[in-house]
Amino acid sequence: MGKNVGKPPRGSGGRALKVAFAAAEAAPFVKTGGLADVAGSLPRALSALGCDVVVILPLYGSIDRTGLVATDLEFRVNVGTRSYMGEVFKGRLDEKTPVYFIYQGELFARPNPYGDQNGDYPDNDARFIFFSLGVLELLRRLEFKADVIHANDWHLGLLPVFLKNVPKGDFLQGARSVLSLHNLAYQGLFPPESFRLTGLPENLFSADGVEMYGRLAFLKSGILFADMLATVSPSYAKEMLSPELGFGLGDVLKTRKSRLAGILNGIDADEWDPRTDRHLPAVYGAGDLVGKAICRAELLRRAGFERDDGRPVLTVVSRLIEQKGFDMVADAAEEMMRLNLFLVVLGGGQKKYEDFFTGLMAGHPDKVFAHIGYDESLAHLLEAGGDLFLMPSLFEPCGLNQMFSMLYGTPPIVRATGGLKDSVEDWKPSSKKGTGFVFKGRDAASLLSALKRGLRAFEDKNGWLTLVRNGMRKDFSWRVSARLYKELYEKIAAK
Ligand code: ADP
Ligand code: GLC
Repeated sequence: MGKNVGKPPRGSGGRALKVAFAAAEAAPFVKTGGLADVAGSLPRALSALGCDVVVILPLYGSIDRTGLVATDLEFRVNVGTRSYMGEVFKGRLDEKTPVYFIYQGELFARPNPYGDQNGDYPDNDARFIFFSLGVLELLRRLEFKADVIHANDWHLGLLPVFLKNVPKGDFLQGARSVLSLHNLAYQGLFPPESFRLTGLPENLFSADGVEMYGRLAFLKSGILFADMLATVSPSYAKEMLSPELGFGLGDVLKTRKSRLAGILNGIDADEWDPRTDRHLPAVYGAGDLVGKAICRAELLRRAGFERDDGRPVLTVVSRLIEQKGFDMVADAAEEMMRLNLFLVVLGGGQKKYEDFFTGLMAGHPDKVFAHIGYDESLAHLLEAGGDLFLMPSLFEPCGLNQMFSMLYGTPPIVRATGGLKDSVEDWKPSSKKGTGFVFKGRDAASLLSALKRGLRAFEDKNGWLTLVRNGMRKDFSWRVSARLYKELYEKIAAK
């Protein structure tokens, strides 16, 4: 990882920089999307750079406790008029990176992190106020004098506000906060009554405080109060200032523009490497693609396609939500079905998209296979066994699947937005440069034209191999980006 490995970066007083990383999910413990990938891998990369890192997560009912140990730490936190007890369990991401889990039975002993079939849990305000206050209390109990507390997404949006309001002389005084914005579409907006759960001074329920349009606004609060803001790609850092992609936060963000950094996510290079992937029937690398053909055959077998005539396999692994561009896919479906391809989809989310893909499969059983649900292992097989990967997101703060697919030799077809734009380079057959197919419009015709370019490129076997290898040779690890975070922490840490 470069020449500074193991050398402690400077924190206050010349010791290793102390970083507390708090998130609502982290792989491998609990995952609903890319936030978990980031929270499970960035802290390890920071530890490897010599930072002293602790990760803090809620202990949901769904988390497997094997390997976790109960500690004798416990604390009480007030949420409005209620006082909740937090218990603390400990696990690790690796030898250097401990994970502390905060357990609160009434709030967290549920099967999912955020909600169930009836929608979001109605007490998500209390749950994440408890968690944010709990993170601070835990750091005091651990006597972990954080230089930086790195909070993620709306769940921890109030943490920077709580931190700014600690009493004089508090153990955490001097700690700085960074808030990562993974997706502005999720803001944590609650009715004004929820404000009393925060215990914050009355005057903070205002436009230059934690209120927005009369509601308690978690993410907006963090945007105003964090010492530094980070988002997950340079393009999204610009796009989020626009009315279209700012989701109502563009103007607030503009006031903090000088404090906003766009850093492209890295991926967990141990988990996502076709040369070592434990989920695959065969492994492979850029120099020898035999294993990829075996993965492809296994994928077609799983999909139940009986005859393989060598046509390209187009794969999708995604949450099935509007953001991901599936309305465009639905509009393009009729023509797509006339093209010579297989389509294999893995995803879950909004019922209308689930129904769309199961309907498409019912109408074209020899061409389309859709697995509705979440399946970690199958996701790896789709990345490896596919020939082309489709990710036509309307917006995409970073996106990880396009990076996985490039590394797995499955060139992605993506819309030019956010992290997709920043990580995929459009294929130019004449110069043999590029790693995928990038399109600009947001209609079926634009998607189809990129897809057809992909299919044509697939026909030219020599060019195709170059395209595949261009992607496989990319470095999407945290090597570069973790350093950028470390530099950002060093810049704001109290001298
Ligand atoms: P987002 O966080 O917006 O869903 P990302 O591309 O950042 O998008 O991350 C999605 C992560 O979730 C990836 O690791 C992807 O492989 C995984 N994922 C999404 N849907 C599924 C699924 N149905 N089964 C398994 N993994 C999935
Ligand atoms: C969000 C975004 C996604 C990003 C992920 C991790 O879920 O939708 O684009 O990759 O966070 O930062």
